Amino acid sequence: MRTSPNVIITGTPGVGKTVHCEQLAQDTGLRHLSINQVAKDRDCFETYDEELETWIVDEDKLLDAVEDEMLQGGLLIDWHACDLFPKSWIDLIVVLRCPSTSLLYDRLSSRGYKQAKLQENLDAEIFGAYRKKPVKPSTKKLWSS
Ligand SMILES: Nc1ncnc2c1ncn2[C@@H]1O[C@H](COP(=O)(O)OP(=O)(O)OP(=O)(O)O)[C@@H](O)[C@H]1O
Ligand SMILES: [Mg+2]
Repeated sequence: MRTSPNVIITGTPGVGKTVHCEQLAQDTGLRHLSINQVAKDRDCFETYDEELETWIVDEDKLLDAVEDEMLQGGLLIDWHACDLFPKSWIDLIVVLRCPSTSLLYDRLSSRGYKQAKLQENLDAEIFGAYRKKPVKPSTKKLWSS
């Protein structure tokens, strides 16, 4: 049994997952686990989507790469998706939203995103795509303090 929870911090690219995870890690003692970084470091990418200018992860490889850490617990998991993880690994899902679409537009365009990628992400934020995706976490108590 885990002695510390695993919390997913998710949401549209640019809403502030990484800055909030970094701050929360300092405040709570939980460890920031950037899934993008894991995928890069452990070579979990499968293909590159030219239109959306993004790497697509090999989900099985990624799950294998993080399984040991997930089972130990105590993580702030920073990623734009959370429906991949088995629900028994996750204790809480937090979906961040950007205060306004124009602010998100400014943040993403300052990254130099092309129009298709910008539009895809703004649509996701407007329609709440990242709110609808999360898995329902298990109601069982999976960690104890
Ligand atoms: N609450 C906030 N107040 C002011 N600026 C913020 C806030 N949250 C995030 N930002 C700024 O927005 C930008 C995007 O933040 P961040 O990189 O954390 O987003 P992200 O959700 O991790 O994006 P990605 O999914 O692409 O990794 C950064 O420049 C960050 O400083
Ligand atoms: Mg980030």
